[in-house]
Amino acid sequence: MKIAVSGKGGVGKTTLSAMFAAALSLKGRSVMALDADPDANLPAALGVPPDAQPTPLSEMRDLIAERTGATDNYGGYFKLNPKVDDIPEQYATRIGNIRLLVLGGVKKGGAGCICPASALVKALLTHLVIGRDDAVIMDMEAGIEHLGRATAQSTDALVLVVDASPWSVQTALRIRALAGDLGMNRLLAVANRVRESTDVDRIRRELNGIALVGQIPYDERFEAGVARLTEQGELAPAPALREHLQVVEAVLSEVQDTL
Ligand SMILES: Nc1ncnc2c1ncn2[C@@H]1O[C@H](COP(=O)(O)OP(=O)(O)OP(=O)(O)O)[C@@H](O)[C@H]1O
Ligand SMILES: [Mg+2]
Repeated sequence: MKIAVSGKGGVGKTTLSAMFAAALSLKGRSVMALDADPDANLPAALGVPPDAQPTPLSEMRDLIAERTGATDNYGGYFKLNPKVDDIPEQYATRIGNIRLLVLGGVKKGGAGCICPASALVKALLTHLVIGRDDAVIMDMEAGIEHLGRATAQSTDALVLVVDASPWSVQTALRIRALAGDLGMNRLLAVANRVRESTDVDRIRRELNGIALVGQIPYDERFEAGVARLTEQGELAPAPALREHLQVVEAVLSEVQDTL
């Protein structure tokens, strides 16, 4: 299962990505969690302390230079297809059964511009090979502009997070249009921060055919994150996740059933 999580700003993409990764890890499944938001906060949501935040891949200059052959001399040649297969093992932060990689921001130049850092990230997304029972969960930046072909081609489905605000559904509908252009047609939605079941009925209607596969209730304790990293490197669920774990597992299995 390889899924990317997208949606409007602040709807809960990072929280839902962390819930999915944590729930799978607690079941003993291997998870590759990718933070693809330049303003990375998936590590924090999974309980990585501030002083142990992983370095974003796009800022590992030596690694980028070694793998792509790029020098600081921009405009020079570099490999578009660098070796990446050992990167998860070598550079990921371990949290229980989760291997977490922060991809970092990649500066975009003019249209069609590609820089060595983005070549490395793209190669990683494209070549990530996982075992049958493993999962890849990618937390994305808000909006749709960054939804590139590499993301679309490397994932099985796009999970669109929506909430009771009308704008989040509008964003989901715009993402559907863009994802379709990129050849990614497997889209599903999850309602987050749900307080009223009537909201869910309305959201389902407004989603205009995008399948709403589940809902996560509002719980203010999610503000404190989803999990905690123990001294032994294990993942301990936060109280909010412990309380809603069955709901999260049910949503996950609905997602898996549509793949
Ligand atoms: N089910 C929930 N119940 C209550 N609060 C929640 C829930 N899910 C997320 N939140 C809170 O809503 C806020 C936004 O969540 P989150 O950061 O996950 O959204 P996001 O979509 O990743 O935002 P961004 O677009 O900035 O990346 C956070 O403070 C988070 O703790
Ligand atoms: Mg986020």
